[in-house]
Amino acid sequence: MGLHRLTSITLGVPDVAASVDFFTDFGLTSGHDGWLATRDGGDQLQLIEAGHRQLARIGLGVDEPDDLGRLAARVESVGLGSVLETGPERLVVAEPVTGLPVEVAVAPRYEAVVQPVTVNRPIRSERLDRPAAAVLTDEPVHPSNLTHVVYATPDQPTTLRFFTDVVGVEVSDQVPGIIAFTRCSEVHHNLAIQARPVAYPHHIAFEMDEIDDVVRGGLAMVDADPDRHTWGLGRHAIGSNWFWYLREPNGTFVEYTADIDRISAQDLYQPKEWAGHEFLYSFGPPTPTEFLEPTDLPDIIAASA
Ligand SMILES: [Fe+2]
Repeated sequence: MGLHRLTSITLGVPDVAASVDFFTDFGLTSGHDGWLATRDGGDQLQLIEAGHRQLARIGLGVDEPDDLGRLAARVESVGLGSVLETGPERLVVAEPVTGLPVEVAVAPRYEAVVQPVTVNRPIRSERLDRPAAAVLTDEPVHPSNLTHVVYATPDQPTTLRFFTDVVGVEVSDQVPGIIAFTRCSEVHHNLAIQARPVAYPHHIAFEMDEIDDVVRGGLAMVDADPDRHTWGLGRHAIGSNWFWYLREPNGTFVEYTADIDRISAQDLYQPKEWAGHEFLYSFGPPTPTEFLEPTDLPDIIAASA
């Protein structure tokens, strides 16, 4: 796979300022040209004004320009999507169902600087003579990177086939006809494709170094505004990741996550087909109705007509 990571997304929202305030509280910092940055991924979130919330662009990174040539060839050979823009180190391809611009560009791999976490267990004491680092700080959390996007589309099989056969993502697990979890890196899912009546971003997720940061970040966000809370704390079944979901002011869910599964090679992993909603969580509070059926969905459908 020439792809190696999810690099960035652009969200279209009606109220840009409100979303910027939310993501600043969330722990993102000011990047270049109005972008919001993560600690390790740099400029990863762009917010632009739009009539209704939408995923306006998704960016994926490859290692070398030759990967772009192979991608352009697959647009022709598979017959899905269309090339919107080309450049020496980037290629923008339109997804065939929704027209979503998918920008694939040569980009450096992550060089995250993560402090090793020491954990004491009954038979293994790693941290001696000192308390856990998480109880010694009240500094705000800063997400490491933008790790996944869940994108709803009205023709899930076609959108999924575009991303697998043209763009080159691999399927990690799926609930056939409902949602497919795909990756462009070793992370279990970077892009999930969900079957819904209309295109919209269901949620975006930011990876934290550890569970402590998920909890500290979630608590701080909810302390500041209880209405932000959506679902958590819990642990997903698919991907195993810890989660705490919040709702940003324009309606997209935003997740703090940690300890998601890693897949080293497709032939060492057995993609599984799940049924029903068993994939949603292994433990945690019950899934709120609005997580499955966002309350603004009728508005998005009306605005997209
Ligand atoms: Fe998620």
